[in-house]
Amino acid sequence: MPDSKYPYITSPEIRAYCELHSKKANQQLNNLEEKSAITEQTKMLSGSFLGRLLSMVSKMVSPKTILEIGTFTGYGTLCLAEGLQPGGTLITLEKNENLKEFYNEQLSSIGSDKTIIQKLGDAAEIIPSLNYTFDLVFMDAAKRQYRNYYDLLFDKLRPGGIIMADNVLWKGKVVTDDVDKLGKGLMLFNEYIVNDDRVDNILLPIDDGVNLIRKKLA
Ligand SMILES: C[S@@+](CC[C@H](N)C(=O)[O-])C[C@H]1O[C@@H](n2cnc3c(N)ncnc32)[C@H](O)[C@@H]1O
Repeated sequence: MPDSKYPYITSPEIRAYCELHSKKANQQLNNLEEKSAITEQTKMLSGSFLGRLLSMVSKMVSPKTILEIGTFTGYGTLCLAEGLQPGGTLITLEKNENLKEFYNEQLSSIGSDKTIIQKLGDAAEIIPSLNYTFDLVFMDAAKRQYRNYYDLLFDKLRPGGIIMADNVLWKGKVVTDDVDKLGKGLMLFNEYIVNDDRVDNILLPIDDGVNLIRKKLA
């Protein structure tokens, strides 16, 4: 939940009701959430509610190729992979090499019919080198880089392809005077998207805010 000096995106009661009436994460995801506590940065993790949205959208899109920008411990990766087609590939980018053990344990052997590849390094440097056309992208790394990520990957997104950009309400700070540099980066991104005629989008007040973007067919 956001700090109380910022507006609640959803009331705690509504959030609890929504969670109660939504399908739950599986045991592997619960274990990973628990295990991620050793990083002392568990706020980074998508968590069960957003994770179910990632899984749902991925199952709806049924992608052959997914790009995740910001792996952390792989929670979102596992959720996104639930909808990946057999034979499909998910590329996930992470700059923090200390998180590699999570990839080795959780992701590298996800299932022989699905390929998960982690690339370590700065996402903005890696994206131009990716020789894929993506059906689904989850943007969840450096908040001030969102617009840059978007521009770098746009031509690699297939027409009709989907981008989900996380944290775009920045704990509600985007509607206050108390918005920091990261929040300003997210506001610029949201502004850029709503004015981009090449896409449709809807900014959803789910969790910390998800900008759901679809590249138009023509
Ligand atoms: C919010 S966490 C990702 C959470 C994950 N997607 C999930 O669903 O649980 C953001 C991650 O992005 C990584 N990151 C931040 N800046 C980055 C950059 N410039 N390039 C690649 N990864 C970056 C951080 O190290 C962190 O692990």
